Amino acid sequence: MRKDFLWGGAVAAHQVEGGYDKGHKGLSIADVLTAGDVHTPREITDGIQEGKFYPNHEGIKFYDHYKEDIQMFREMGFKCLRTSIAWSRIFPKGDEKDPNEEGLKFYDDLFDCMLENGMQPVITLSHFEMPYYLVKEYGGWRNRKMIDFFYNFCKVVLDRYQNKVKYWMTFNEINNQMLVENDLYPFTNSGIIFEKDEDRLPVVYQAVHYQFVASALVTEYAHKLNSNIQTGCCVAATPNYPNSTNPDDILLAQSEDRKLLMFTDVQIRGHYPNYLLNEWKNNGYQFDITDQDLEVMAKGTVDYLGFTYYMSNTVSADPNVKKLGDDLQGNYAVDNQYLKTTDWGWAIDPKGLRYIMNMYQDRYEIPMFIVENGFGYADKFEDGKIHDQNRIEYLKAHIEEMKKAIEEDGCDCIGYTVWGCIDPISFTTGEMKKRYGFIYVDRNNDGSGSYKRYKKDSFYWYKKVIETNGEEL
Ligand code: BG6
Repeated sequence: MRKDFLWGGAVAAHQVEGGYDKGHKGLSIADVLTAGDVHTPREITDGIQEGKFYPNHEGIKFYDHYKEDIQMFREMGFKCLRTSIAWSRIFPKGDEKDPNEEGLKFYDDLFDCMLENGMQPVITLSHFEMPYYLVKEYGGWRNRKMIDFFYNFCKVVLDRYQNKVKYWMTFNEINNQMLVENDLYPFTNSGIIFEKDEDRLPVVYQAVHYQFVASALVTEYAHKLNSNIQTGCCVAATPNYPNSTNPDDILLAQSEDRKLLMFTDVQIRGHYPNYLLNEWKNNGYQFDITDQDLEVMAKGTVDYLGFTYYMSNTVSADPNVKKLGDDLQGNYAVDNQYLKTTDWGWAIDPKGLRYIMNMYQDRYEIPMFIVENGFGYADKFEDGKIHDQNRIEYLKAHIEEMKKAIEEDGCDCIGYTVWGCIDPISFTTGEMKKRYGFIYVDRNNDGSGSYKRYKKDSFYWYKKVIETNGEEL
């Protein structure tokens, strides 16, 4: 393993900060999401409504606790911490000319604190939380005007933090919104609320196009601003396996993989791949894409491939094979007999990590950064102790496969950050009980609790992993 390997953890502003109305922050789309659970989807409400519960409003109070939390990350030896900037702290409505100084000051202090404690900030510019006003007033990323609003926001924060932050990413898991049947993803990725009976896929493709342009503009700006800055894309890397050797399944897995690969193809190669252009043509889709957009996209290609990894997906083209029917995995997903799942139904597949790393290495030959991987579990809290051996096993197995990909296969990977290094609010369900951290936060699903922090067994385990640069697992 390289000596400067970036071991660390990852969170996102809306899932930990809380203080949703502090420091003149505006409402973000995460602030109008209620809590759900494994069987109940989160509701997107029309503004904040009385009597509804919004778990992200308090988060885990990282806004007030971050100094204490960063001390604990330091104790584990973190080399980096990935988090995001809440756009609505900087531009409360999103379309203002001038930024909110209080919001900027908060991130100045936060990044200083990280640097003083020996960890590099790794920053996502948009992690599921654009200002809600942009949704109501402009329709979110349906609207080309979003490119300018996002670009202005990014310029302000890049200018301000260029000497504190080297690693940036534009859109978190930009590919999630391809799961168009699930209302949550197009909303959290792009602020899209579908109209009744609307043909959803072309709406999302158009929004994605505007994001590609915005991302490329920001990347190009960052490159010109400071040659030290590295800008990456971020995709949720869920590879698709064919359920059988039937060529129909093989072809299906290939076409499902393209829904993921199109994002890195564009952001790394700088142009739309032929398979996608062809799909649009065959469907008669016509989008607002200008020649100037295409030029921008060609110039603003990313420096590294950031990706999150939680699971693989197994797909079957056979109508007689029972589908999971879970819109997180898409319409063709089936059970994989070789893999166990978490209590939230996510297939545990460490080898899938090695597989996708190799796929990326072969296809793009640019550095990759694993910016999320983690195990969601309802930890048991017993007398101030949390024995999370299952989390240790999960992470150990994934790190082993990552090491094989790097050392045996030659993949160029610059870092690995464990998702939810301190228990965050779950994104998909809004629960607290789906915990990921090395640090337990005493907060319950309903928001009650002391918010006190406790070290889990995995805390001490990960400290060793970092200390030995992944030798001792
Ligand atoms: C990724 C997101 O999809 O997975 C995170 O980038 C999210 O925001 C993480 O929290 C885990 O998902 P969940 O639903 O278990 O919190």
